[in-house]
Amino acid sequence: MTDQKKPRSLPLSEAITISAQAVGEVMLGRSLTEVLDQLDTHERPIVQSLSFDALRKWVKSHELIKQFIPKAPPPEVEYLLSVAIPLFLQSDSDGKGYASHTIVDQAVTACSEYEPTQYAKGLVNAVLRKVSLAIKAEREKPYPPDPIPMFFPPWWRASLKRNYPKSWQSILLGQAQRAPLILRVNARQYTREEYQQLLQEAGIEATPITEIAGVSLHSALLLKDPVPVGDLPGFYSGAVSVQDAGAQIAAILLDPQPGDRVLDACAAPGGKSAHLLELADCELIALELDGQRITKIGGNLDRLRLQSQAVKIVRGDASKAAWWDGKPFDKILLDAPCSASGIVSRHPDIPFLRREADILALQQRQRAILTQSWNMLKPGGTLLYVTCSVFPEEGENQASWFATEHDDALRLNAPGQILPTGINDGFYYALFKKNGS
Ligand SMILES: C[S@@+](CC[C@H](N)C(=O)[O-])C[C@H]1O[C@@H](n2cnc3c(N)ncnc32)[C@H](O)[C@@H]1O
Repeated sequence: MTDQKKPRSLPLSEAITISAQAVGEVMLGRSLTEVLDQLDTHERPIVQSLSFDALRKWVKSHELIKQFIPKAPPPEVEYLLSVAIPLFLQSDSDGKGYASHTIVDQAVTACSEYEPTQYAKGLVNAVLRKVSLAIKAEREKPYPPDPIPMFFPPWWRASLKRNYPKSWQSILLGQAQRAPLILRVNARQYTREEYQQLLQEAGIEATPITEIAGVSLHSALLLKDPVPVGDLPGFYSGAVSVQDAGAQIAAILLDPQPGDRVLDACAAPGGKSAHLLELADCELIALELDGQRITKIGGNLDRLRLQSQAVKIVRGDASKAAWWDGKPFDKILLDAPCSASGIVSRHPDIPFLRREADILALQQRQRAILTQSWNMLKPGGTLLYVTCSVFPEEGENQASWFATEHDDALRLNAPGQILPTGINDGFYYALFKKNGS
């Protein structure tokens, strides 16, 4: 397979319209990933960038909207403004953005498509002109305004404050930033050094990430500037995957060996399954409950050239045994469904979608899957429990509960809670060995 050509980009006004619609969907409770998945390839990069920024700067843009429109505007105008306002923040801060008059002009054109009344267009025009001036004036003040521009529900803030009294603000601030692009080199095709060389030849600057939370990484590369995946050498022939550095320690901690029978109990979209197969010729069952998400696993394994007789993608519920053939596993990766509160910088819709009550419901699902998976593990085997959460209810509390409930579970060394740093997302890792031989 050859690498695809760079997709043509979208005019800014069209991108603003589609992004405002995407933000509207999130406000109705839909996942942004689902909305973005429905876009054409040439639309996705710019719409993702604009809608992510709209969510990351939600509090900041709404302060400005309120300042200039005391009565709440119609939702269409609100979403359009929340997409356009962050463009001024970017243009002022890094010099790479659009000129202010272009932003106003393109947003008004977008409004003609999205909410084509004279009233809406006039409002967008007037508000954005004022916002542009206000942001300029604010930059000249000696102290920066509120450092957390993103929306987090009060219960979320309170939980972080309680659990991380010293670092909660820096965690939230870090999560409101754009996440860097991190790659995992497919060890079956290239060493990290070889691939770094290929990147350099393509004019893409990257540095190795050698360790996260005391675990050595052999395949992680941090790109200085993000690029579309189609520009990465050999992407479509499986040379490399995009994966956060914190996620890359999962397969390393589980340490699959050739011939091991391994279960990835919650596998879609297959990032960690692929990493396991890159590390060893193991017999892998990639289990997934969701009929939509499961389709992504095969696509990823195909691209990375990792499909074989030894790999089975199975639709089933990991909290039940109905799908199981009764043969126990040497190793189990349990990357459990969770709040995703650790990966907000890559999924800024999460704080808008989660409810406080979700945490208890998730905790119960995690316990059910943990208990059932343990029954499927061989004596002497290991199980890695992972969540991409920063809430202890889904991390340390679960691991302690599990160890107390299971006399045959021995806790092995693992990082525990990893907080988001701006380089890696937030994860929780606990490793258990089943007593016996
Ligand atoms: C955190 S994601 C897994 C990410 C994946 N391990 C990767 O690295 O690409 C959790 C997955 O578990 C799936 N899931 C939720 N409940 C499940 C269950 N009871 N049995 C199996 N899969 C489940 C979700 O649909 C979701 O795809």
